[in-house]
Amino acid sequence: MNRNLLVSAALLLALAAAGCGGNKAEDSGAAAPPPASAPGAVTVPADLDNGPRAGESPVDEALAGLGEGLFKTKGCTACHAFGTRLSGPDLNGVAMRRTARWMEWQILHPDLMIKQDPISKSLFATYALQMAKQGLTPDQARSVIEFLKKKTKEAGK
Ligand code: HEC
Repeated sequence: MNRNLLVSAALLLALAAAGCGGNKAEDSGAAAPPPASAPGAVTVPADLDNGPRAGESPVDEALAGLGEGLFKTKGCTACHAFGTRLSGPDLNGVAMRRTARWMEWQILHPDLMIKQDPISKSLFATYALQMAKQGLTPDQARSVIEFLKKKTKEAGK
């Protein structure tokens, strides 16, 4: 009985040691990412807000419908509303304030935008909160932007 216990314990220890060794090797591999994915390597383009406002182009109704759902399920409503300021800016009329490209960057890379983009920096100075990255794909961001355009038109902005 005692002997069996000792053998089991020895086996467990051996397995644990093997497991740790394996993990260590993986960790050290992951510690050296390729330079292209290094944080801070992405430069926000300086001309994001140049050109026509997003709301100047027609709304894609099908995408706007998808975007309305995403706006709720992706957590935007936690910080944004239309016609009132929550912890984030009032999005009423936002499509006549910004270009679609600027909004796409703000939605996909809010962390980079508040460090590099002059508009995001000034919004951050007002709201004292960094917009959270909600993990949208570029296609999902474009749908949400169509929804923001639709809301802007409905508000007569
Ligand atoms: C944790 C709160 C928070 C969440 C969640 C959030 N935002 Fe924001 N958002 C902000 C803040 C704060 C700003 C102002 C910029 C900054 O400080 O990062 C902002 C800025 C914006 C702007 C620019 C507003 C303007 O007046 O130009 C847009 C557009 C926007 N957010 C859309 C979204 C969308 C779409 C989502 C969901 C995918 C979202 N946000 C999720 C807080 C949030």
